[in-house]
Amino acid sequence: MRNIVENHVEEMLEFLRYDKSQWENIWEKLKSKFSILREIEKSLGTPNFDKLERRNFDKFLYDYRELVGKDSIAKRIRQHSEELDLKREDFITFLGVFPKSVDWIVVEENEKKVIFENLYSLWEKGELNKVSEAVFQSIVHFRKGEVMGNFYNKEKIFEEINEFLAKKERDKSFMKCICKILYEKVPYYDWVGFYMINDEGVLELGDFVGEPTEHVKIKIGEGICGQAADLKKTFIVQNVLKETNYLSCSPKVKSEIVVPIFKDKEVIGEIDIDSHYVSPFDERDKKFLEGICSMVSDYLDK
Ligand code: SME
Repeated sequence: MRNIVENHVEEMLEFLRYDKSQWENIWEKLKSKFSILREIEKSLGTPNFDKLERRNFDKFLYDYRELVGKDSIAKRIRQHSEELDLKREDFITFLGVFPKSVDWIVVEENEKKVIFENLYSLWEKGELNKVSEAVFQSIVHFRKGEVMGNFYNKEKIFEEINEFLAKKERDKSFMKCICKILYEKVPYYDWVGFYMINDEGVLELGDFVGEPTEHVKIKIGEGICGQAADLKKTFIVQNVLKETNYLSCSPKVKSEIVVPIFKDKEVIGEIDIDSHYVSPFDERDKKFLEGICSMVSDYLDK
């Protein structure tokens, strides 16, 4: 398999060896060497070197050498080789520096797509230690057809939601409020809803945010929701096309996570989340949503 991570950070910082008055010239030379920089400039504009400070680049370079290992980035991507469809070999990632605050941008070079990963922008946001995750995330978004974006820190988002919900009054709008905040704050949660087991022992749709669904009642064992209730465990399906026992709500949905809500070890309902991205979920989503479900269980108990 071909190398999918090209690292050009140190080469691009060549201008640091020159006086600041020379930076613009050096940048011109870099553009001849790396033609993708011209493409990036078409979208983001030319960097204004007058406004940039040497000490920031020096600090960046120091942190970069401490924090960024190319191997761990490639490893993180290859671990998800199947979900990210790496066999197609239709793109590479290019680690570089572009002094504008956009973390990644897709450009074309020789009919190949290049995801330019702007490590400088990531560093400015204090997220350079998350570079492997950021590269992985950019590929997930690229696979959906997005051409530019910024890294989001899952842990921070989940923490903020937990803090908000801890203070939220436990009134009858509580479950709707959970759906709303999850849908609004997590960029890849595209449908959030609760199914509760009704008197007939069937999962019945309760509060939700997102497009209406025809699956208002789901039997235990049916679809991903029914399986999670049946097996009493969290289900993560990273690519719904590969799941045979699946009830489709919309062709836009590419992945799904379902977490049961327990009371006295019995399933009383569940939270269901659909995403328009392939493979966006991981253990952190599972842990976070299991926490939300236990919050809901306590709320329903009162
Ligand atoms: N896809 C689910 C059905 C519910 S909708 O996603 C809202 C399933 O397979 O159980």
